[in-house]
Amino acid sequence: MEKAKLWGGRFTQSTDSFTDHFHSSISFDSRMYREDITGSMAHAAMLGRQGIIPAEDAELIIKTLGEILADIENGSVSFDEKAEDIHMNIETILISRIGDVGKRLHTGRSRNDQVALDTRMYAKKEIAAVKQLVKDLIAGLNSLAAEHTETILPGYTHLQRAQPVTLAHHLLAYVEMFKRDYERLSDAYKRTDVMPLGSGALATTTYDLDRYSVAEELGFAAITLNSMDGVSDRDFCIELVSALSILMMHLSRFCEEIILWSSHEFHFIELSDAYSTGSSIMPQKKNPDMAELIRGKCGRVYGHLVGLLTTMKGLPLAYNKDMQEDKEALFDAVDTVKMCLPVFTNMLATMTVKPDAMLAAAKGGFTNATDAADWLVKQGVPFRDAHAIIGRLVLYCIEHNTNLDDLSLEEYRAVSPVFDESVYAAINVKQCAQARKVVGGPAKEATERAIAANQAYLEKL
Ligand code: ARG
Repeated sequence: MEKAKLWGGRFTQSTDSFTDHFHSSISFDSRMYREDITGSMAHAAMLGRQGIIPAEDAELIIKTLGEILADIENGSVSFDEKAEDIHMNIETILISRIGDVGKRLHTGRSRNDQVALDTRMYAKKEIAAVKQLVKDLIAGLNSLAAEHTETILPGYTHLQRAQPVTLAHHLLAYVEMFKRDYERLSDAYKRTDVMPLGSGALATTTYDLDRYSVAEELGFAAITLNSMDGVSDRDFCIELVSALSILMMHLSRFCEEIILWSSHEFHFIELSDAYSTGSSIMPQKKNPDMAELIRGKCGRVYGHLVGLLTTMKGLPLAYNKDMQEDKEALFDAVDTVKMCLPVFTNMLATMTVKPDAMLAAAKGGFTNATDAADWLVKQGVPFRDAHAIIGRLVLYCIEHNTNLDDLSLEEYRAVSPVFDESVYAAINVKQCAQARKVVGGPAKEATERAIAANQAYLEKL
């Protein structure tokens, strides 16, 4: 028989060679080597402290695990598909180096609680990394907003020009979304920060383990409170990928606007050459490929979320091998988001805003019609009547190919005698945006308050 498997005792035949390849996870879970080794060190130290294994054995195990870690990092260790996964690869290497002492490491532990531990440690590390990237994005958007508290552009509903807003206001809308994304990640972290080791295969163990000291050594805030749940819960993966999906959805919406804004039709912005690509055939093209790719990659992250939910659906307690499918989904979702965020942040930081084109667009499409109606209301006209009067004036403008700003006072008075000169100031699009000083509004002073609040928020993170 080939080299014995760590679990080979009750087997008389070796596994089919393709089966080895099929069920092995080392090709993707090797990235958790640091978590696996750190977790094993804490487990061994606890076994030694509790007198479950001799203290000197624990010491040798910990020392050798440290050497294996260094060797993995300097590239002198290679993993073996036949040893299945990262957990058994490292244990095999340990035993090959220190023999019988190494065989004591797995006392009171199962790969089921071990993989749950490693995955949680990995997820914790990645949540912290993604949070930092979201924070960078919020900071970038907030400072861009500070430069554009007087830049006017149309706000849209149904992608039809609706009312003028400031670019600061538009950008700050996304800051709110990314702040919620940040909070969702922090929340996911809390439920990931729970230490499952000690759950064993499913029913704990008869050894007197000190789970709290392992949690403390590994920097966990709490321990899992039911061993069957401890080995079979992958909610933390689903929750993280769900938070990442919502984050990608926000990036994707923003990318869609960047794509529209950089089109010839809008021409509100120009992306830097560093974040655009050309066409192999059309010499004039400058395409917003990065924004499109981020929009596209959103689908990939959603796919992982649905994949994870579907893998877990209908699984009986406790561990099932199906759950090995969690890792590629989790890893790829995290990797994707970690690539998209800095590209997006830098793409925005390097784009050129075209305030004149934005203002020209805000002046078209009757974005000041609501303000014209509001002016009438302030003269005592009931809102519904004001709405009808302005509606008639808009129709008149369309028929005469003009706009509300350019109508003469006689033309206004022909529809309603209430009009006087002061209507022109009230419907100036800059004034329309800047008069909306309500908390949460587009006016310079409202956005300046929001920017200051966001700055304080960032400083507290
Ligand atoms: N590679 C496995 C996984 O990722 C580790 C746990 C295996 N446990 C078992 N009983 N087969 O889920």
